[in-house]
Amino acid sequence: MTTNPDDLSFDEFDEYINPRPAETDFDRIVDSALSRRDLLKSVMAFGSVAAFGNVLINTPASAAQDRFAFAAIPSSTADNITVPPGYKAHVVTRWGDPLWSNAPEFDHATRGNAASQALSFGDNNDGMEVYPHGDKFILIVNNEYTNRGVIWGNRPEGKAENNDDILKGMNAHGLTSVEIAEDNGAWSVVKDSPFNRRFTPDVEMDITGPARGHDLMKTNADPEGTVARGTFNNCGNGSTPWGTYLACEENFNGYFATADEEHPVSDSMKRYGISPKGRGYGWEKIDDRFDLAKESNEYNRHGYVTEVDATDPTSRPKKRTALGRFKHENAEVVVNNDGHIVVYMGDDERGEFLYRYVSDGVYAPGGETDSLLEEGKLYAAKFNDDGTGEWRELSPEATGMANMAEVCIHTRMAASAVGATTMDRPEWVSANPMAAEIYCCLTNNRNRGVKANAGGDETPVGGPNPREANKYGQIVRWRPDGADHTSSTFSWDLYVLAGNPAVHSDDRAGSANINEGNMFNSPDGLKFDSNGMLWIQTDGNYSNEKDFAGQGNNQMLLGDPVTGEIRRFLTGPKQAEITGLTWSPDRRTMFVGVQHPGERGEGHWPDGGESSTPRSAIIAVTRDDGGLVG
Ligand code: FEO
Ligand code: CA
Ligand code: CA
Ligand code: CA
Repeated sequence: MTTNPDDLSFDEFDEYINPRPAETDFDRIVDSALSRRDLLKSVMAFGSVAAFGNVLINTPASAAQDRFAFAAIPSSTADNITVPPGYKAHVVTRWGDPLWSNAPEFDHATRGNAASQALSFGDNNDGMEVYPHGDKFILIVNNEYTNRGVIWGNRPEGKAENNDDILKGMNAHGLTSVEIAEDNGAWSVVKDSPFNRRFTPDVEMDITGPARGHDLMKTNADPEGTVARGTFNNCGNGSTPWGTYLACEENFNGYFATADEEHPVSDSMKRYGISPKGRGYGWEKIDDRFDLAKESNEYNRHGYVTEVDATDPTSRPKKRTALGRFKHENAEVVVNNDGHIVVYMGDDERGEFLYRYVSDGVYAPGGETDSLLEEGKLYAAKFNDDGTGEWRELSPEATGMANMAEVCIHTRMAASAVGATTMDRPEWVSANPMAAEIYCCLTNNRNRGVKANAGGDETPVGGPNPREANKYGQIVRWRPDGADHTSSTFSWDLYVLAGNPAVHSDDRAGSANINEGNMFNSPDGLKFDSNGMLWIQTDGNYSNEKDFAGQGNNQMLLGDPVTGEIRRFLTGPKQAEITGLTWSPDRRTMFVGVQHPGERGEGHWPDGGESSTPRSAIIAVTRDDGGLVG
């Protein structure tokens, strides 16, 4: 059987190359199902004040008022963007838009080449941030990956036909930093700005932290193990209080491959999904770093958080190994009351973990910041069914590993060793600016209660992962004890269980704050705005059929963390995911990412017509009256 990796999600690909054993522990499943029933009772009660001991939330005085500045909109299957009355949206930049005047405009017939792509906005934009710099605005954004059928859609088979095609795909990855400006309410790219930069998978960056110089980081091209090239498959992002951007490397495994399908696969390769069968990007054909037979350590140099200063065009990115190596979704940075920097991070794969990093030093505005993401402690979350939880430190002693370098390279195995809780694919994490509480999207997990994770850890139904073969996802939140983000203990509950009450009446209908008017599946992007309201973006099943009937295209919703109410704000074009969110400093523009429109051949957003190539893009959402948008 021939499998086209483009037809597989990243998780499906991981299981295709590394099939999971089926779960057999029947007694454990029955026990978990019983405790799940009790948990669901409380989740379903959400919205009534008593449900989660609201004493833990700093309820604002205005909680009783409607904090939504818009009327909810219906779901949509149209190939466009819809927003509520009183709002409008326009495209700021799209895949292939030139950043410099010596680059050609995007060619819909050829979809560009390696040279034009290196000078243009990358593909599949995801996490992003806007930094003010003097009187300028610098947008920096992840260009996560490429869809073969789109980037090579000019080829009859939708496959690279030559090395230039492969390099075009490579150059469409990485990060784009670009100056943007507003004119008469419309934002656009400032071509030729000194702040315009592409960070392709070829750009040099320093390896910092415990793994720097470790034997596992040494390669033929870098015998010292201190300088990596490239950052790629960056999904969500983070931002530091000192004004730097954090790009989070997610599904880095699929770029490594080799011709010999029998090439040996070690346990650590298996845990991270490294396999001779790549995902079809073809990089091993043009760069030996990605050929497993020619280079055995390159994959240890990816899967990190990379820090970039977008406001300094001469700055050199830094891979922050202290934050661990896994399939990073985003990195939510919190300054604790005592100045410690705390970073919350999810590992997005079925049955993987939630992590926390706590800096050894403390942050002082204007002071030294370089050590804050280099020297610190790493933890993984253990959730108990009774609504409590703890952070388990990933030290050499606790994990049985030789040193912190190994912990920071083999972080998944370290977290397995301390018995962290296997989660339903942790996506974005966001901290409430109004209260010491953190939210995380658990997007879905069809293996919950069915199969172990890639390391063989069981995935029992229960705790924050209460539904077997979870199709819809949920949002968990936790509150550190003593409102101290460095505390080793916390309490947790579920903010929402997504579901479809039009189709199901059991736990698949979702929690009490889900109804036929606001239902969605697969929450992914997540970000609090300055008002303490929670924006939720989806990356789910857009078939609008069966379990997903009535949910339409992927979308963005707004949730009130105090009342539990959720309203739909935006719907995306066909086959797109909505991901990436930030604001202009004056909060009158909200920037929203639209990723992989028309990824399976249906759709022509944003340029429309019958022959245009669909293109990922960033849109700007504003109010007709010029008011604040979050
Ligand atoms: Fe790139 Fe977990 O989404
Ligand atoms: Ca995501
Ligand atoms: Ca996702
Ligand atoms: Ca995505």
